[in-house]
Amino acid sequence: MKVLVIYYSMYGHIHRMAQAIAEGVNGVPGAEAVLRRVPETLPKEVLEKMGALDAQQAMAAIPEATVDELASADAVIFGTPTRFGNMCGQMRQFLDATGQLWAKGSLVGKVGSVFASSNTQHGGQESTILSFHITLLHQGFVIVGLPYTFQGQMRTDEITGGSPYGASTIAGGSGERMPSENELDAARYQGRHVAAIAAKLTA
Ligand SMILES: Cc1cc2nc3c(=O)[nH]c(=O)nc-3n(C[C@H](O)[C@H](O)[C@H](O)COP(=O)(O)O)c2cc1C
Repeated sequence: MKVLVIYYSMYGHIHRMAQAIAEGVNGVPGAEAVLRRVPETLPKEVLEKMGALDAQQAMAAIPEATVDELASADAVIFGTPTRFGNMCGQMRQFLDATGQLWAKGSLVGKVGSVFASSNTQHGGQESTILSFHITLLHQGFVIVGLPYTFQGQMRTDEITGGSPYGASTIAGGSGERMPSENELDAARYQGRHVAAIAAKLTA
C-alpha cells in the first residue's frame, strides 16, 4: 500500500513534520510512505532574498512530486506552510494541474489528509487545513484528520500545534522554532491513522 506524503517546505519545518508523518505510515504493516516535494515556483533570487537557499539545499534529495503518481497512491497526505491563512502557492499550482485526474475521477475514494505550519500560534493553521479540504472533496478524497485519541492535542502545559483537522507546528516569529516532540508525535499519529484507514479501504 502506497501512501504519498506530498509537501512544500520553504525553511524545513514542514519537511521535518513530513518525515514524522512517514514514520507513522511506515509503522503500519504493508504500508510504505513515499516522500515528495511539490515543484518550486519562485525564482532563485527571490528564495535567496527570503533566506531559504540553505534549507532548500538540505531538502534537495527528496524527489519532486508528479501529478501522475497521485493516481497510483492509496492515500495522499499533503503538507503545506500557511500563506495568509491558506495553502502556499506552490501547492496550489500543483493541485491546479490535477484537472485531468479530476476529469477521470482517478482520485475518488482515496484517503486524503493535510498537515500544516505557521509562524504564529493563531496565524491560520486550522483555516489552511480546512480550506485545503475543499480541493480534496472536489477530487473525491475521503478526508481523514487527527482524532482526539491523539491526546497530545489536549495539552495546555506547553505551546503546541495540532487540532482535529490535522497535525501542525508553530515555527515562531522568525522561524526559529522547529517542531516539538508533541507536534512530531501528532504527525506520526496522523500518518499511522491514515495508513490504517487506507488499509481497511483497500482490503
Ligand atoms: C507570504 C507569506 C505569508 C505567510 N502567512 C502567514 C500567516 O498568515 N500566518 C502565519 O502564522 N505565518 C505565515 N507565514 C509564515 C509561514 O507559514 C512559515 O514560514 C512556515 O510555516 C514555515 O514552514 P516551512 O519552513 O516548512 O516553510 C507566511 C510566510 C510567507 C512567506
